[in-house]
Amino acid sequence: MIFPSKTITLKNGKSAILRTASPENAAEMLSYIQTASGETDFLSRYPEEWTLTVEQEAGWLNALASSPYTLAITCFVDGKVAGNCEISFKRGIKEGHRASVAIAILQAYWGLGIGSAMFEELIFAAKEHGTEIIELEYIQGNDRAKRLYEKYGFKTVAEKPGVIKLKNGTYLSEFYMQKYL
Ligand SMILES: CC(C)(COP(=O)(O)OP(=O)(O)OC[C@H]1O[C@@H](n2cnc3c(N)ncnc32)[C@H](O)[C@@H]1OP(=O)(O)O)[C@@H](O)C(=O)NCCC(=O)NCCS
Repeated sequence: MIFPSKTITLKNGKSAILRTASPENAAEMLSYIQTASGETDFLSRYPEEWTLTVEQEAGWLNALASSPYTLAITCFVDGKVAGNCEISFKRGIKEGHRASVAIAILQAYWGLGIGSAMFEELIFAAKEHGTEIIELEYIQGNDRAKRLYEKYGFKTVAEKPGVIKLKNGTYLSEFYMQKYL
């Protein structure tokens, strides 16, 4: 699915554009996710674990845009990638009422309202799709993300202890949240 371009105003007064990234953005998208993964322990991989080539990333962006089950929205500030989010709609009779979301914004752009703007679009898309439950997971200690999710009505319903292990040997829980539409 493709999200057509939409201009939003950030808390600092700057304009930003939300749109689905195209294969031409592949190199920048790779660099964005590697940077974001190094800025926090709360994403699922370390930067060096993002090993796709630019061509593979372009193919991935193409596949996402043409899939009816995924909507990815990237935020561009001054023409540069500031963050990205995705909603994946599950398929099938037993699971088709659910969708999962993921989000990561570069640290330089935290607290400007990008996460909130993205969540409004993701929730709208889920309603349009007929989704009944939106779900997500966050890692223990990620209070900023938890605050964002609670603001949009997500509730923690389960804890999975020890599922994340950092390089320094620290084990962290993952919390599973749901929002009923
Ligand atoms: C978590 C994340 C997506 C939030 O996005 P964001 O653009 O910074 O969020 P917003 O600016 O829209 O703020 C959303 C809410 O977070 C809360 N928040 C803002 N600053 C905060 C802070 N310093 N500490 C705790 N909560 C904070 C507020 O409740 C805010 O809502 P409000 O402004 O209406 O009060 C972003 O910080 C991020 O990508 N972090 C790194 C990757 C990550 O953790 N991804 C999520 C994995 S589960």
